[in-house]
Amino acid sequence: MTEELKKLQTDFAAALENITTQEALKELESEYLGKKGKLKAILSGVKDLSIEDKKTVGVAANQLKNECIAAIAQKTQELEDSYFSEIEDKEAIDVTIGYPSENLGHKHPISHASELLEDIFISLGFKIEDGPQIEDETHNFDMLNIPDNHPARDVWDTFWISDEINKERKPGDKYLLRTHTSPVQIRTMLREELPIKIIVPGRVFRYEQEDARHTCNFYQLEGLVVGEGVTFGDLKWTLDTVMKQLLGEKTQLRFRPSIFPFTEPSAEVDVSCQICNGSGETKGKKCSMCSGTGWVELLGAGMVHPKVLEGCGIDPMKYSGFAFGMGIDRIAAQRFGVSSSKMFYQNKLKLNEQF
Ligand code: PHE
Repeated sequence: MTEELKKLQTDFAAALENITTQEALKELESEYLGKKGKLKAILSGVKDLSIEDKKTVGVAANQLKNECIAAIAQKTQELEDSYFSEIEDKEAIDVTIGYPSENLGHKHPISHASELLEDIFISLGFKIEDGPQIEDETHNFDMLNIPDNHPARDVWDTFWISDEINKERKPGDKYLLRTHTSPVQIRTMLREELPIKIIVPGRVFRYEQEDARHTCNFYQLEGLVVGEGVTFGDLKWTLDTVMKQLLGEKTQLRFRPSIFPFTEPSAEVDVSCQICNGSGETKGKKCSMCSGTGWVELLGAGMVHPKVLEGCGIDPMKYSGFAFGMGIDRIAAQRFGVSSSKMFYQNKLKLNEQF
């Protein structure tokens, strides 16, 4: 290698060593390898050399050129790596770091009430089940002994899913936003072995005129117990125990005869109003939660209708069961002393922050 090439090589190596930015590297690249670069000058002079020199100088110059290209590529990579690792260091997020917790938020009172109920039922040996919010007509109505044109369908008027959206679902079935959690009774009886002891907390929908106790969207907690020798007495004991645990020992329950197509006999169960302590009055005015009656209707219940059991392949001569469906919103209102369950859906932080 000629002296000139050797000098070029050491100069290049020294310059490369000191480079810390991509810009400087680009400059160095054009200084040596560019059209008017130092190596180019030597390479283009090769043609004027003797054949002997052409061989040695030409080969050496080309080799140096390749070395320079490789060294620049490596440096480019190094600079890039250090650039990104610097960013990684600078922007690293410590997910374990402590942060002020004052604005963390908390559970919605309905979730809170639901979890309190779940804990009580679990302590009594119940299992939690779930079901779809978009339900088919068969489970929501027919198998609960509410055939088409049954007047009870008016009580559970709802939002039907239009056939347009329905296309991908089973042909021949109509779909709706479930009006109650009772279809999960059917789904569970069809699927599970006896005995069954479940609760089903979940969201339901109705076409309602909204007031202090009614909203189009609310939460229910369904209960179902099926086995040998299950009685109405078991139902009463269960509800009494749960409500006393949730609302306090003084809480009273009132069973009124009622009608549900899927239970027989059926009852509606009221709880003494916690807002007005059963007096019907708050601050001299009629209590809006219980409409001044001192009682709040909390749930529907009854013994599972033999037709419903039969429809699910369960022999009603051998087995019996009870079921109930309670409004979690109303229970939350009672438990937390909120005078209208509608307030739970109004996104008023002032309300939610109190719990
Ligand atoms: N599904 C009924 C309703 O939504 C409540 C209910 C459940 C009644 C189970 C009896 C038994 O009103």
